[in-house]
Amino acid sequence: MIIDFHSHILPAIDHGCADSHESEKQLRIMCANKVELAVATPHFYPHIHRTSDYVNDVDESVKAIRARLGDNTLGISVAIGAEVLACETIDRMPDIDKLCIRGTKCLLLEMPACGEWERLQIEAVKNLIDNGYNVILAHIDRYMKRYEDKIDTLIAMGAMAQVNAESLVTHASRKKMMAYIDGGYVCALGSDLHGSEKSSYKAFARLERRVGTENFKRIMDRSKELLATAELVEL
Ligand SMILES: [Fe+2]
Repeated sequence: MIIDFHSHILPAIDHGCADSHESEKQLRIMCANKVELAVATPHFYPHIHRTSDYVNDVDESVKAIRARLGDNTLGISVAIGAEVLACETIDRMPDIDKLCIRGTKCLLLEMPACGEWERLQIEAVKNLIDNGYNVILAHIDRYMKRYEDKIDTLIAMGAMAQVNAESLVTHASRKKMMAYIDGGYVCALGSDLHGSEKSSYKAFARLERRVGTENFKRIMDRSKELLATAELVEL
């Protein structure tokens, strides 16, 4: 089973997909590449969004793509999650459960791209893990230049890692990511699809060749396990 664990495919909810027309195009690209299950992970920014409004907006967005497709579904299952930006109080945020992939305790957490990661941010992630959440670090490949040691600290604490397909194309980042993959630290692969250019899915389409069949299957099995209880929307 091919699972794309990180994608911005829901219409008009973030900058990944303008409307349901574009959403349909994105889903068609996924289907053409044999993706059977996609996790929709629209951005959630704790300093901007209110969880209840965000959840309502996500529900409306799902309704919009369902309405567009009507009975002409494409044959892809979609789990509804979020890409949650970490902050130092994220572990105490009310309704954090509502930002997990629906039906699971999996939380796709995006660490900040700049600034220092304070001790409190690391502690917040640890608290989430201790409270029973499956914390999955989004696109660890992005943090290698500046935060590699911190990523290793979070993984040692029990966080899991998601890798973006794009990072497996260029030689330098591929080498690094393969070390995490070969070490068994990666539980999910994603396209992080924004927009509907076919070329933006090239890297994901070539993943099995890039990481090797055995690694690919192992990671997909791990993703499937994490999503075993997920509520799926059939599109
Ligand atoms: Fe993303």
